[in-house]
Amino acid sequence: MLSILSEKEYAWVQDTMDKIKEKMDWVSEKSKDKIPYTTVNGVHTDESKKETSSTGEGASWWTNGFWGGMMWQMYQETGEEKYAEIARKSEVILDKCMEEYYGLHHDVGFMWLPTAVADYRLTGNPDGKRRGLHAANLLAGRFNPVGRFIRAWNQWGDGKDNTGWAIIDCLMNIPLLYWASRETKDPRFKQVAMLHADTVMENFIRPDGSSNHIMEFDPENGGVVAAYGGQGYELGSSWTRGQGWALYGFVLSYIHTGKQEYLDTAKRVAHYFISNIPESGLIPVDFREPKEPLWEDSTAAAIAACGLIEIAKHVGEYERDIYLNAALKLLKALTEKRCDWSRENDSIVQKCTAAYHDEKHEFSIIYGDYFFIEAMQKLQGNEFLMW
Ligand code: GLY
Repeated sequence: MLSILSEKEYAWVQDTMDKIKEKMDWVSEKSKDKIPYTTVNGVHTDESKKETSSTGEGASWWTNGFWGGMMWQMYQETGEEKYAEIARKSEVILDKCMEEYYGLHHDVGFMWLPTAVADYRLTGNPDGKRRGLHAANLLAGRFNPVGRFIRAWNQWGDGKDNTGWAIIDCLMNIPLLYWASRETKDPRFKQVAMLHADTVMENFIRPDGSSNHIMEFDPENGGVVAAYGGQGYELGSSWTRGQGWALYGFVLSYIHTGKQEYLDTAKRVAHYFISNIPESGLIPVDFREPKEPLWEDSTAAAIAACGLIEIAKHVGEYERDIYLNAALKLLKALTEKRCDWSRENDSIVQKCTAAYHDEKHEFSIIYGDYFFIEAMQKLQGNEFLMW
């Protein structure tokens, strides 16, 4: 448990962790043969039986590492072998995406860090190492050396050229490269990750600390072509999950490299995020979305909370409470208003949204649960740093 929590906060963390363990005990058994993305009528959906797809859907969907990641976090929490067994099922299913290849985008970090690499780091499974290094090579292969960025997506069916597109989310994928460099003692992977992070720092983060979602660079000469609103409300707005990826992603790059500018950038994004947290502690899909309809995204709250707690661990005592208190506000709002602990629902965190302009809003999404659990484990001090 983080020693700086008050007695009341300590009791709340303990109580929430107990509820997580109780829920994951039966949900893991019920969904053990699935790779869930969301729920329908409270029941986990399953991506694992679907075909891989060259556009990154079905079995190749970018979120397919989170269920395994939840299982490994529960393994870390309880030491129970059943969680390792369930997690490894995802790892094996993801092999078919590796074979298919065409469905894999930059999200290989999201897919293989919480599954294969976690397996290797927690249990020494050599298959996990092999899969992780394979994924790291795919990610490094997406690097554009002139523009110094990692290309986000593959060519879409509509013929629109996205060769020069990079997105803020990729900051969560590059820890795969930091790990690969440590593992192979070859600095190339880390060099690629740092060059990408530098480009993001220079081009994505605005003077007020908010972040663009998508930037397009000229793939031949690296010049900036355009910015796009992406999954947020519009160009120039601030998609909250993207702010979360930036905040958490930069502190992770600091942890892996010690480069002070990354921590400073994480803090700058954090200050912007903190100053926009509504009184309720519940996070909208975009900090600049219209008041009506006010769509929420609980995943942004959970991801930002993870990053804020990490920042709190890496700053002095004087600053620490700024970040920790903001994380507590976000997580308390989720536990009090958005967590479903019942047996009627396979998911925990409710009111998540994938993108502002999607038809569907405010449903459960697997990475809402994943990052909520990770954040609570960070507060407890028993977390496995997955990224
Ligand atoms: N990485 C895609 C998303 O955050 O929706």
